[in-house]
Amino acid sequence: ARVDKAGHKHFMAKEIAEQPQVIGDAIKHYLGESGATITLPGEGLDFTKIDRLVMVACGTAYYACLTAKYWFEQLARIPVEVDVASEFRYREPPITPGTVALFVSQSGETADTLAALRYCTGKAEKIVSVVNAPESSIARESDIALPILAGTEIGVASTKAFSCQLTVLLVLALEAARQKGTLDAERYQSLVSALRALPSVFGGALDRNAVAETLSLQLAEAQDILFLGRGVMYPLALEGALKMKEISYIHAEAYASGELKHGPIALIDKHVPVVVMAPRDGLFDKTVSNMQEVMARGGRVLLISDSKGLEEAGEGIWRAIEMPRVDPVLSPILYALPAQLMAYHTAVAKGTDVDQPRNLAKSVTVE
Ligand code: G6P
Repeated sequence: ARVDKAGHKHFMAKEIAEQPQVIGDAIKHYLGESGATITLPGEGLDFTKIDRLVMVACGTAYYACLTAKYWFEQLARIPVEVDVASEFRYREPPITPGTVALFVSQSGETADTLAALRYCTGKAEKIVSVVNAPESSIARESDIALPILAGTEIGVASTKAFSCQLTVLLVLALEAARQKGTLDAERYQSLVSALRALPSVFGGALDRNAVAETLSLQLAEAQDILFLGRGVMYPLALEGALKMKEISYIHAEAYASGELKHGPIALIDKHVPVVVMAPRDGLFDKTVSNMQEVMARGGRVLLISDSKGLEEAGEGIWRAIEMPRVDPVLSPILYALPAQLMAYHTAVAKGTDVDQPRNLAKSVTVE
């Protein structure tokens, strides 16, 4: 079926707005209408027999994997390695029998990811993929293919596929935790409930579009933008920077907040906006002290946090986007939204071709 922009100026805007719906579709598909039982296709996966998870992808899908590493390790206590497909495939990494190899790809046709999958075939315990295209090569060549149900994504810069990839990966990490008994029943249930509530929280946050549009007029003036995050928000900072450079052509870089003083702090001056993605979680105080180091050097901090975080952050913040409060485990899915909105509006302000950025392809089927 032909997909149109449904009244939006760009496919990207439409796909950003669709997220509450498609995240909800993915949650319903895996969690079932009534109970908290997570259903996986076929014979499923026995996580009690898995020693190691190896996750491989490219681009935005790679950042979804990096995020999921925090979930699988913290919630399910499974050691995880993550790599970009183009490095993984030529490194000849040893794949031991207790290893599950997991590939994340929107198109299911990315050449390097497919080659990495073929490298693992016959070596790994199971080949699992998380894909948007269920008929794709990557899906077909997997033992278990988990659809993300995002629907057709036209914008070259991935938005709804990313949030749906994260959703499915979190479901999988929760299922692993349930099987292994690494979370107490109450914590497990509270995360399942938080996940169920996420589409409506996400929907409620779509109105941050207005503040993102206003502050993007100033971001569009920048030569360089720095993104900082800590813990599970670090991969999201990477994704925010990728999105920004892909469509606005502004040089953007992401760092783990704690690495700031090991290099990027040398770049800080009043011309470099520093986007700090920091919900009020257990690591917030540490991020605040990194933020103060930025402000002490004249840096302009754009803080994306919840009401509690903004209250505790103190004086001197340049701009803020207030997000609803969610369980910190889920924050990367929700905070994908402001990252997307900033990139989108900055690109619109610069007049670039948002849906078809120069030099980029939606699906990279050659090396
Ligand atoms: C291209 C696209 C990116 C995407 C990457 C991986 O570079 O422009 O948006 O993240 O490929 O694509 P895949 O289909 O494997 O997720």
